[in-house]
Amino acid sequence: MNVTLELVADYIANSRKIAVLTGAGTSAESGVPTFRAQGQNKSAQAPLWEKYDPSELASPSGFKRHPDLVWQWYDWRRNLVESVSPNAGHHALAALEKLYHPQPRTFTLITQNVDRLHHRAKSQNILEMHGNIVSFRCFDHGHQAGEVERSLPSPPLCNDGQCHSKLRPNVVWFGESLDSAVLDAAMAAARQCDVFIAIGTSALVQPAASLPYIAREHGAKLVEINLERTALSENVDAFLQGRSGDVLPSLVDLVKAHPRPV
Ligand code: APR
Repeated sequence: MNVTLELVADYIANSRKIAVLTGAGTSAESGVPTFRAQGQNKSAQAPLWEKYDPSELASPSGFKRHPDLVWQWYDWRRNLVESVSPNAGHHALAALEKLYHPQPRTFTLITQNVDRLHHRAKSQNILEMHGNIVSFRCFDHGHQAGEVERSLPSPPLCNDGQCHSKLRPNVVWFGESLDSAVLDAAMAAARQCDVFIAIGTSALVQPAASLPYIAREHGAKLVEINLERTALSENVDAFLQGRSGDVLPSLVDLVKAHPRPV
């Protein structure tokens, strides 16, 4: 592993544009369950929710059919993510980005996560491909809502004038398209970067799963950090096996100590 870690540190120290894609594995060490449980990882649902299919809960049709159930599921997940803290991996990514700030270099953090832990770790240039679960808008007209009371049994109603539509989380549901500006920016970052690092993602869900391949097609070095090999692993230049909360701080230390400081 150390040889590969040094190789990746060299990639980064010599790069001018980095793009990072994070998935649920990046938040696992904070206590946020991943979606496709492997090994010791729990599923994204506590036992209370295990009998439901997430795509049934995380979809416009599911919300229309079961507004109270969907609202309570997101309330449970929101309370969970707000009760945990960013882990060493989140902080390492924020530190790596800081190494770039004074330079005409770019660091783009593309996340599939909806927990806002990268924001809380003070990362700056973040693209939330799947939105987030800690802010809300109304279902019918998209009016953004302010702070929402916790543990309500039903979705509160929009108080924007006479709207009164039910509130929903600002998350991308199954069957919904991503924010086009976010997607365009993520695609551009993948095309323009010279190093692309995929961290804690099963690399299965589109369109995020295409980003590493786009980067590679445009000549970037492709790095993967994961507990185990994924569908992406055979296509990468360097595979760093381990917990992101362990690997990332070690990687940042090597970059800082690199003879060609970033
Ligand atoms: N460090 C690094 N990798 C980890 C860790 C860890 N501590 N823990 C788990 N992993 C890896 C797993 O091996 C797995 O490859 O993280 C990955 C998590 O995969 P998923 O649960 O599929 O999460 P993700 O890839 O983010 O899912 C993508 O699917 O359901 C949708 O919208 C949802 O954004 C999500 C998308």
